[in-house]
Amino acid sequence: MSTFEQLNLSKQQLNALHDLGFETPTPIQAQSFSVIMSGSDMVGIAQTGTGKTFAYMLPIIRSLKYSEQLNPRVLILVPTRELVLQVVEEIEKLTKYSNLRVLGVYGGTNINTQKRAILEGQDIIVATPGRLYDLALSKALKTSDIKKIVIDEVDVMLDLGFRFQLMNIFEILPQKRQNIMFSATMTDDVDALINDYFIAPKKVSIAVSGTPLDNIAQTTYNVENFYTKANLLSHLLKDKETFSKVLVFVSNKRRADLLFEVLNEIYNDELCIIHSNKTQNYRIRSIKQFEAGENRILVSTDVMARGLDIEDISHVINFDTPNFPENYMHRIGRTGRAKKEGKSILFTTAHEADYRIAIEALMDYKIPVLEFPKEVEISEKLTREEQPKEKEAYNPHKTTDGFVKGAAFHEKSEKNSKINQGGSYRREIAKKYKKPKTRGDKNFNKRNKRK
Ligand code: CDP
Ligand code: MG
Repeated sequence: MSTFEQLNLSKQQLNALHDLGFETPTPIQAQSFSVIMSGSDMVGIAQTGTGKTFAYMLPIIRSLKYSEQLNPRVLILVPTRELVLQVVEEIEKLTKYSNLRVLGVYGGTNINTQKRAILEGQDIIVATPGRLYDLALSKALKTSDIKKIVIDEVDVMLDLGFRFQLMNIFEILPQKRQNIMFSATMTDDVDALINDYFIAPKKVSIAVSGTPLDNIAQTTYNVENFYTKANLLSHLLKDKETFSKVLVFVSNKRRADLLFEVLNEIYNDELCIIHSNKTQNYRIRSIKQFEAGENRILVSTDVMARGLDIEDISHVINFDTPNFPENYMHRIGRTGRAKKEGKSILFTTAHEADYRIAIEALMDYKIPVLEFPKEVEISEKLTREEQPKEKEAYNPHKTTDGFVKGAAFHEKSEKNSKINQGGSYRREIAKKYKKPKTRGDKNFNKRNKRK
């Protein structure tokens, strides 16, 4: 497939794509089109930033006839509120020359405003699961005419955190409907669930789950502890030209707030933060400021890891090593989008070494380790969670803010050596995360690359 003209698109769609400057469909767009048009259930797997949104929107919009009916006919479910906003924007770009009505709904905002908007009549609803279900229960949203449902980021949506909400939604949808699912990663569990819940879904797989993008240059550092990580990050960020738009992932809200506090002393005006305890307005503002380049550095939890398409992020820094290897793929996937070059840097403590091994096993790629810069100070200050547990209750030096000053994080060399062990443990983890047959044919990628 060489141009969009060769897909069976409408004149309006072609004009909209032309305005966006897009001429050729990406592989996932080209290969999903006819499958979705045929009406069968489908699962699409393709790497981050390869155009999955339009892969489902092009055929859906193509087959959605103009109608004045009030009840929505298409439902798109995504895991975060920010992603709702983004997908709505993408649909608006694509429907610039047609009269389709699209509405985004999500929690943390006034539900009555959303109810009124739904009652005006909509064609496509983009939603987070919780709010969608609340709107359906309140009868503001009628689900009886929904013919197609898209579950974007399907692996996380069918994971335990979301699964029950999703099951509730399935129960109130018409039995006869088309289920369309997309993600960059797939786990065995989710794969099995998909086969149980959906009717003979066709698989369109551009890359095996966990295939890293060549255009993201990955590196990693072995780092002692939280405050040493902060020192290293601070050191790297000094180079404003290279580190021009930096997304920093931290494992939880508490650590995000703490890192923000520490960095704030130096990078005050250049810094913003997002996590699920911030108000929705604050979250949106942080992303806008980062996107527009008003703030160079965004500190975030995994709330930003999935799906968000922000232009020209120069670096993704994994301040903490994620313990689900798939999350690493999604985090680094915020850079290197639409074939651009991106860089990712992973900080790993001895305690996190096993997580990195699992990530490397998933990708089938060993991340090059960079030498820890001599000029960066190794901190001996420990966070509360880094303090040796058994000592905590008896520690007379504990300060009120929960930090122990001067307590060394001992056994450094021994613990760090574990990272490079490569022994039986590594093999065990590799076995656990080995690519199952259902994830597709690994050689498929190699064959395609050669062409
Ligand atoms: O969902 P996924 O991570 O695969 O990527 P996306 O967010 O749908 O799209 C990534 C970027 O590619 C967006 O900025 C699109 O505007 C752009 N793009 C596209 O989707 N299709 C093309 N044919 C060309 C560019
Ligand atoms: Mg996406």
